[in-house]
Amino acid sequence: MKVRIKRHPKGVEEFEVEVSQKITLLELLYKVKEELDPTLAFRSMCRAGICGTCAVKLNGKPVLACSTWVSGEDILVEPIDRFSVIKDLVVENESMEKKLKVAKIWLRVGKEGISLHEEVNRKTSRSWDCILCGVCDSVCPVLSESELFGGPLSLTRLYKYLHDPRNMDYEATLKTLQNLKPELCTHCMNCSYACPKRLMPEGLIREEENLLVEKGLLQRQVGGFDFLSF
Ligand code: SF4
Ligand code: SF4
Ligand code: FES
Repeated sequence: MKVRIKRHPKGVEEFEVEVSQKITLLELLYKVKEELDPTLAFRSMCRAGICGTCAVKLNGKPVLACSTWVSGEDILVEPIDRFSVIKDLVVENESMEKKLKVAKIWLRVGKEGISLHEEVNRKTSRSWDCILCGVCDSVCPVLSESELFGGPLSLTRLYKYLHDPRNMDYEATLKTLQNLKPELCTHCMNCSYACPKRLMPEGLIREEENLLVEKGLLQRQVGGFDFLSF
């Protein structure tokens, strides 16, 4: 099969790969690296859809390379959007963790001996299951337009702390939510369609926005979205 790979800084290169059976995109990239060009750079760690490092675009759509099957068709592989590219398919992903740190998206632990009820676990599981792959941020049109918006990744990660009874400083977590400005989300659904773990970030953001309205910390915009505040 024909595999075209967008390599930084070289541009698109084409490889002809012998594939006799269905393999994952990650296995295919290893095949190119091991059999055709050892200089090809891409990231992978767990190979099991858990570490989030192998996100790339396959024919224009962001996917986890280790969890995506390819067969005989010709394909184009590119780095995900919105992150600066270090080499070939490797993007600079430290910014994701920095972003969480700067926004203080963590559990403010203090209360001990509190057990998490199944209901809380169920509610927050979509947030806990985030693997920090960056795909949602890579497809968010608002992030490209506004530096004020926290983005789907941060808002998805924050969601669990808003519902965790062990959180000793709920007010600070609410303040963090306010600072991330969930109201700037246009609910275009790009993040929900693209998230490889099917966490539906847009739905979580909608709930977070509603929470701010309930708490009197946000006034709902009448008639749509406040684009002018960008
Ligand atoms: S739904 Fe909101 S957060 Fe998700 S991609 Fe669209 S604007 Fe961004
Ligand atoms: S919400 Fe989904 S797409 Fe976004 S970082 Fe987490 S797992 Fe990846
Ligand atoms: S290699 Fe870890 S998610 Fe793909």
